Amino acid sequence: MSDLGTRAWERAEPTTEDYGKPFMAEQLIDSFGRIHTNLRISVTDRCNIRCFYCMPAENVQFMDRKDLLTFEEIERFVRISVPLGLTKIRLTGGEPLVRRDLHVLVKMLAAIPQIHDIGVTTNGILLAEQAEDLWNAGLRRINVSLDALDPVKFKEITRRDGYEKVLEGIAAAQRVGFDPVKINAVSIRGMTEDEIIPLANFARRSGVEIRFIEFMPLDADNAWEREKVLFAHEIIEKLSQEICPLIPCPGQNPHAPATEFQFEDGIGKIGLIASVSRPFCMNCDRFRITADGKLRNCLFSLEETDVRGMLRGGVADIEIASAIRASIAAKKEGHEINTARYIQPDRPMYSIGG
Ligand code: 5AD
Ligand code: SF4
Repeated sequence: MSDLGTRAWERAEPTTEDYGKPFMAEQLIDSFGRIHTNLRISVTDRCNIRCFYCMPAENVQFMDRKDLLTFEEIERFVRISVPLGLTKIRLTGGEPLVRRDLHVLVKMLAAIPQIHDIGVTTNGILLAEQAEDLWNAGLRRINVSLDALDPVKFKEITRRDGYEKVLEGIAAAQRVGFDPVKINAVSIRGMTEDEIIPLANFARRSGVEIRFIEFMPLDADNAWEREKVLFAHEIIEKLSQEICPLIPCPGQNPHAPATEFQFEDGIGKIGLIASVSRPFCMNCDRFRITADGKLRNCLFSLEETDVRGMLRGGVADIEIASAIRASIAAKKEGHEINTARYIQPDRPMYSIGG
């Protein structure tokens, strides 16, 4: 690994920025001092493809539609979370764009003044059709999952067609104004090594920003093995050798899971999400709500709080706020992927929301 790469991984925890902040009694703060301002909302567990690192190939048991939180219920949950410090939202799935009229939800959430940042993570297949509506609703951040530029490899990974649609979706998003469009590529040893350079060159050519993500043990098939993780430092090395040296970007947000690099020639940016080799748990500011209304304080948590039951059971906002605080207070230090103690959550990725 290059020296520059090594230094970029060493993050200050917690950040000096956090020390100076006035303490708000209502903040969502856990027992490790982490302040939670970032909510990931899964709007459906359905998906129009079947990435092997997330879903089983066939016979997926999807949630009953009546069990999904309605847009009004999601909005209420967000409004309850705002006085607790929530400012940032990302809509996820399954595939969020298969949820009908997603742009209506975006508009409802964008109308909440304290929410200054809304993003969507999509597989891109329906993006060309929806990019403009999403933009007009107030969405400004879009991440598209694309693990391979080779269409055959794309199909091997996703077990479905759709490659062309994803590329069209990325182009449409750029056309309507999303800048930068970010691409998420899960990196898998024995499968996507040969995609790293083409994906990075695609990013350099087209002005998207690409983020390589280490494969995590959240797949429905339980096929994850440590040997299949293509480590971030290996990717940096490969890119530096075969394209151009990488330099860490200045002024990075310590709460962002990706460490960002730029190519020395000034063309293109790369992000590395080293969830396995360099967990960012100590800087985590996220909590999650699943499409069926279960609050999770971590991607990997084994416990959930049934918010839907409260939303539908006549429970007052103040009690729901207490339940959110209690969930965050109970957050564990981090995932234990790298230990023998690791227990994979019952919910695979598509039903948690990536
Ligand atoms: N490991 C790493 N990333 C994953 N994603 C889904 N499953 C996994 C996994 N097992 C990512 C996808 C997508 C986002 C929703 O989560 O690439 O970008
Ligand atoms: Fe669908 Fe996303 Fe899971 Fe792929 S990772 S199967 S696109 S939900």
